[in-house]
Amino acid sequence: MMDSVHIIETAPSEAPMDLLLQADPSESKIKVYLNRSRCFIAALNGESVGACIVQPIAPGVHELMNISVAPSHQKMGIGGKLLRHVIESIRDAKAERLEVGTGTFGYQLAFYQREGFRVDSIDKDFFLLNYEEPIYEDGIQLKDMLRLAITFTK
Ligand SMILES: CC(C)(COP(=O)(O)OP(=O)(O)OC[C@H]1O[C@@H](n2cnc3c(N)ncnc32)[C@H](O)[C@@H]1OP(=O)(O)O)[C@@H](O)C(=O)NCCC(=O)NCCS
Repeated sequence: MMDSVHIIETAPSEAPMDLLLQADPSESKIKVYLNRSRCFIAALNGESVGACIVQPIAPGVHELMNISVAPSHQKMGIGGKLLRHVIESIRDAKAERLEVGTGTFGYQLAFYQREGFRVDSIDKDFFLLNYEEPIYEDGIQLKDMLRLAITFTK
């Protein structure tokens, strides 16, 4: 099954919004970063089952804004394959650094660490200050954002 999953880059306008909303509940925020981002899709038999959005935030620095796999296709290795492809694409673009912020310190943390992300800092109260509605994940309200990063060696 994994062999038939292909990672492709598409125009941001082609990004599957239903998938992106799983990782970020604010459609208006997604629309803002989507416009200036690269969009990678995990495709299985012509269907988009995963998506990842990466935005340049400073010279040589990119931020992974969103990564999501359809619930029906999670835990099959698709997210890991998509994440590795994105890391390699950003490295190939001669970037110095790829960052990601997460409010969930559960399995997602291991998902990123496994591919080489290191803990960088904590953005206290990020979700309280930046989202109008409280966000819950597994019954826990998201408050602080953990910032992770991969620094590419030349
Ligand atoms: C995070 C996400 C993209 C991972 O995609 P995926 O295709 O399930 O990832 P993989 O199959 O490559 O799994 C990677 C590891 O995470 C674990 N994992 C994935 N989903 C999990 C879940 N819901 N609960 C516990 N562990 C989970 C897998 O077990 C796997 O570890 P293993 O190889 O030791 O079994 C996907 O779970 C998702 O879309 N989640 C909702 C959106 C989200 O939280 N995005 C990240 C925002 S920070």
